[in-house]
Amino acid sequence: MGTGQPRAAALALAVALGAALLAAWAPGAEARARRSIDLSADLGRPSDSRLPEGLVPSHYRLRLQPFLTEARFQGRVRVNLTCEASTRAVHLHAHEALHIAHDGVRVWWLGGAVDASSSEEELEDADTVRQQLSIASTKKDTIQQQYVIFLTQNLTEGDSYEVELTFSGPLNDERSEAFFMNSYEDHRTKGRRSQALVLARRPYAATQMRPNNARRVFPCFDGPNYKATFDISVVRPARMAALSNMPVRLTEKLQSEPGWEVDHFQTTPPMSTFSVAVVVSDLGYITPLNPLTAEGGPQIRVFGRAHFLGRLQAAADAAPAALAFLQDYLGVPFPLPGLDLVVLPHYAARHPADMWGVVIFREEDLVGESMQVQLTTELAYQWLGHLVTPAPRWAELHLNKALVNLLMVARLQGVSPIFSPGNLATRDHSLYYEYSKKHPYAVVKSQKETIRLMKSQWVLRMINNTITEKTFKSGLQHFVQERQYNVFEEADMFSTITHQGWADGTVPRDVQLLDVVNSWVQRDRYPAITVTRNYNDATAEVEQHVFLRDRPRWGCSSCDDDDLQWWVPLPLLAQGDLDLSSVQTMGWLHRQQLTLRDLPAAPNEFIIVNPNEMGMYMVNYDPTNWQLLAAYLEASAGGDGALAAVDVGSRAKLLHDAWNLALAGELAFGAALNMTLFLPRETEFAVWDTFFTMVDHVGRHTSGTPAGDKFQAYVCRLVEPLHAGLAAQAEAQGTPAPRDPRDRSDPVATLRALAKYVLCSAGCAPCREQAQFEFARWMEMDDPEEGNPVADLYLCPVFAWGTDEQWEFGLQRVINFPKEREPEERNMLLAKVAGCARDPLRIERILNASILETDSNFTISDVRNIANVLAGNAYGHAALFSFLSEHWDAVKERCSEEPGMWEYFVSRALSNFKTQEGLDLVSELYVSRMGQFGPAEPIVEEALKTIKEEAEWSNENLPDMEHWLDAHLDQ
Ligand SMILES: *[C@@H]1O[C@H](CO)[C@@H](O)[C@H](O)[C@H]1NC(C)=O
Ligand SMILES: *[C@@H]1O[C@H](CO)[C@@H](O)[C@H](O)[C@H]1NC(C)=O
Ligand SMILES: *[C@@H]1O[C@H](CO)[C@@H](O)[C@H](O)[C@H]1NC(C)=O
Repeated sequence: MGTGQPRAAALALAVALGAALLAAWAPGAEARARRSIDLSADLGRPSDSRLPEGLVPSHYRLRLQPFLTEARFQGRVRVNLTCEASTRAVHLHAHEALHIAHDGVRVWWLGGAVDASSSEEELEDADTVRQQLSIASTKKDTIQQQYVIFLTQNLTEGDSYEVELTFSGPLNDERSEAFFMNSYEDHRTKGRRSQALVLARRPYAATQMRPNNARRVFPCFDGPNYKATFDISVVRPARMAALSNMPVRLTEKLQSEPGWEVDHFQTTPPMSTFSVAVVVSDLGYITPLNPLTAEGGPQIRVFGRAHFLGRLQAAADAAPAALAFLQDYLGVPFPLPGLDLVVLPHYAARHPADMWGVVIFREEDLVGESMQVQLTTELAYQWLGHLVTPAPRWAELHLNKALVNLLMVARLQGVSPIFSPGNLATRDHSLYYEYSKKHPYAVVKSQKETIRLMKSQWVLRMINNTITEKTFKSGLQHFVQERQYNVFEEADMFSTITHQGWADGTVPRDVQLLDVVNSWVQRDRYPAITVTRNYNDATAEVEQHVFLRDRPRWGCSSCDDDDLQWWVPLPLLAQGDLDLSSVQTMGWLHRQQLTLRDLPAAPNEFIIVNPNEMGMYMVNYDPTNWQLLAAYLEASAGGDGALAAVDVGSRAKLLHDAWNLALAGELAFGAALNMTLFLPRETEFAVWDTFFTMVDHVGRHTSGTPAGDKFQAYVCRLVEPLHAGLAAQAEAQGTPAPRDPRDRSDPVATLRALAKYVLCSAGCAPCREQAQFEFARWMEMDDPEEGNPVADLYLCPVFAWGTDEQWEFGLQRVINFPKEREPEERNMLLAKVAGCARDPLRIERILNASILETDSNFTISDVRNIANVLAGNAYGHAALFSFLSEHWDAVKERCSEEPGMWEYFVSRALSNFKTQEGLDLVSELYVSRMGQFGPAEPIVEEALKTIKEEAEWSNENLPDMEHWLDAHLDQ
């Protein structure tokens, strides 16, 4: 759409980046919950050093003592080891900041294998044979983050040993990592009578161990695969309390140090070092109103500063239900006697510190909208992370996170509107756009892993949906039971679920789920499926191919790789029974083609493959099935409530796939536009949101053409009544004005905001009128330089369709913009004045002012911005091109002020043509200015190839589109 610049910009964020940045579907709550999804901190540093094999820890006795006034701690650790391969050196992880006393190092031989299962006698024997070994030397390896003890004799395979070290280190006080301290202020009533509140400074110390911070707290075998039991003791000031993974077994006064006490905690189950938890504080706590203890469940406590505890009751009350859900889903009760959720003031690390039995949150995490998401996610890690632990490799970490996300969604769907089925089905649409680009991730490199994680989530959802939740759940339960207190690899999990599916008859014998998953996860593409029905014998031919939507595709090597094939489950709904719970997986497409038989649909009934966006693929049908679908939806749109027979997610998907296939040139536009005929009765956010995104995408390909103008008229015809209805409803209910259009936590308000946005960017009459009214207020101000009272939304319609006087007023505000005001505001205004204008004379006026007139106050970076916004819409682009053709030398001269500017200008002025006319213009210029492009030469050559592809698409598609629009606008 001509003035679609702001919308395009908003979508560029929401679509290309937003998906990744905001985890796409719930920018409100989820963005705040995003810390848990961010992957970077969960990976060990790539250079993370592995310890030599041969020694395996089985038990730690760890004693820690924080000194809060000195910001340091000291400790002692004794590790029981089994020797599995003879060696003369003991390697432990230890961070360089940890100071290990050389004379405190001891190694004992404990005799033959001693373990928890040994009898009393054996243990006594072990005691008597305990022998101290002599140490040759010790070495601190700061690069490998290791501490090495060399012995004078070999450790013997099969024997047990004990290593003891004493150490000290700093209590880090800035980043809330490893063992850290901080303090907070809380009110305290002074004296009995006086009600005066005084602020008391209260220090605390706590641990945050992921991904490999344990080595900063004590020397250890710091890797998830080294699971061992722990006896933890914490020495603390007598007036404070200590928390750890397990309940306190015994508290003693320290005879040697008055004022100190030591808490000895019960022995933990086998766990990884990152599960170790210690908190020393004087925080208070609350408990849930309905605890699980009646059923023998864990004791749940929520700790916080005294004056904040009241706000945490909702989280405390939500925790038992979340735990109950998780233990039911995973089939294993919460494995520890207690769970402490610690809300630490000034906790500064990027993630909640999830340790086993103790999770540390920021104060804002457990209040408000995001509480449920945060809480459920972190509780799921208690099982999938601490009880069963992913091997320290990329694939496993990814899978684990995706699984945690699935559990969180499973728990919260139906509880929170963010996780309504329609939102879930459409939340990852942005992945489609990324993966159908010539070069996925080219623009959003830094978000690559987050995007891949979203894909893994989608793949797991697909598996759950197609093999039935029953199989998925029982498979997962077996897996957790088999692997508890252990580490796992991806293959373990999918193999267990596959066997479950074979047994249940929900996974065919020739399907291995790991292969299925890998065929999706390991590729940055996805397929489109074509379903061609044979209406005589109830069969359908199904075919798959790589889907690419974006052009240009020239020079793309992976763009039509016929060898790329996915394992595609084919869930299907038929017109006779549209209930999502009746979905049947009709087959698994693996090679190029597959014939589906016994379709449950009569020849005059439609089918929907991949309903509710169960799998990550587009579906195209033969024209008859499309026709049946469109006719049904349109007809049911006339009746009341019948539209709802097709679920929201599937309505959005049909619309989405039809338009994307049309944009890719795989479906006639008429067929795609038919899928909008039901929209006048549509009320669901998810469907409209999908439509708005498509309006933007299509608008960019058709802007400036007659078809594009008609398309906008059609958009207005659909959106005007939608917006009017929502506005009337809001007025009747006194709902406040819409908030951030990307916040989906209130779908109705958000839909209204989005509808308004589209109304204005398409230049629909109601918005134009209101824009006039708003703009007049600015023009009437005594000092218009004071500030702009007009909402951004209304500027474009005025600069595009208002009078010359209004436009000139805008330009003058840019020129006279006061120095003391925010320069960003000026840039924004300039972008609108230039980017929204459609009249060639206005555009020429601003180009003259900024490029030709030397005494104007436009800088070279203004020129860059102007060229950029003009290139964003067809009217501006055409005017920019003619300006370059006419003022070739002057433009070149002005561009010489900044390196790279000439190339930039040329690329802006040439690359965005989409029609044959544009191609002709650029070709002419290329010939007439041959040899004068200089460094911009390759840009022109690429632009010509790109425009050629666009023009071919326009030739093939725009007439069909225009024809359809003519027919429907006339009605
Ligand atoms: C000690 O172990 C090393 C291997 O780590 C082996 O090469 C050496 O022969 C052993 N020495 C003795 C005395 O067993
Ligand atoms: C660890 O070693 C000590 C001997 O120093 C022994 O008493 C204890 O039972 C061992 N613990 C385990 C769990 O093996
Ligand atoms: C898992 O699949 C079932 C259908 O078998 C569906 O009802 C459920 O919502 C799915 N769960 C998630 C978390 O997607």
